[in-house]
Amino acid sequence: MIELDNVFRLFLPKRRAVDVFVALEDVSLRVAEGEFVSLVGPSGCGKSTILNLIAGFLQPTEGTVRMRGQPVVTLNRATGYVTQDDTLFPWRTTRANVEFALEVRGVATAARRDVVERLLAQVGLQGFENHYPHELSGGMRKRAAIVRTLAYEPEILLMDEPFGALDAQTKLLLQDQLLRIWEEQRRTVLFVTHDLVEAIALSDRVLVMSRAPGRILAEIAVDIPRPRDVFHIHSNPAFPGLYERVWEHLSKELGAARA
Ligand SMILES: Nc1ncnc2c1ncn2[C@@H]1O[C@H](COP(=O)(O)OP(=O)(O)O)[C@@H](O)[C@H]1O
Ligand SMILES: [Mg+2]
Repeated sequence: MIELDNVFRLFLPKRRAVDVFVALEDVSLRVAEGEFVSLVGPSGCGKSTILNLIAGFLQPTEGTVRMRGQPVVTLNRATGYVTQDDTLFPWRTTRANVEFALEVRGVATAARRDVVERLLAQVGLQGFENHYPHELSGGMRKRAAIVRTLAYEPEILLMDEPFGALDAQTKLLLQDQLLRIWEEQRRTVLFVTHDLVEAIALSDRVLVMSRAPGRILAEIAVDIPRPRDVFHIHSNPAFPGLYERVWEHLSKELGAARA
């Protein structure tokens, strides 16, 4: 579904004295339809840049970004984007926030209600449909933001550290809900995270990036059967080996950054 081929992305310096900054260097990757792929790598290695290229917010300096074989040259409307600091509209209720994209698309009121009720129930937000964002917990707001994106059925979901700001238990609950929704819908997901356990628990494949200029260093297939139990992922016999493989690549990059 998504193909990046030999993608370079440079950024021009703000001050003339500084060299052009190479954010991505020769990045090639594939994401198949229905696949859940995670990207991990040191801060500033170009993970968000990759998502922005796929969403069409940015163009590659060199190389190609394709979706279903077509170059992404403008805003890619087939993508749904969820970020760490996604905010709901404070003046809309939970339901009205989730309905927003459907409203914009002109979906009829009754059909909208059905989709939204089902999605809210799936993430345990029934009973909170008429609450405003300030009346919800951080985890609830995050769930509402995710289902708002799911409501308009994007072909590919780009998630940029969506659970980064949540406490550990809330994070586990949301990972579990995301997995259930994913197992049901098999939507294509490209997921950025700093949390290696999260990357392994959720993904079919984990791509490890180098520090800047960002390159793909390794690709680790996660051969843990589904449905998965995020709460006990550590006790899966395949887990320690997978964690070691991801960490082996990543730790070298972090060590290099410290030196
Ligand atoms: N629009 C931009 N202008 C200049 N530099 C940018 C821009 N976007 C990203 N960068 C730089 O490119 C590098 C990669 O950024 P990013 O993709 O956000 O990294 P990550 O998400 O892996 O932390 C960073 O050094 C960042 O400062
Ligand atoms: Mg980022």
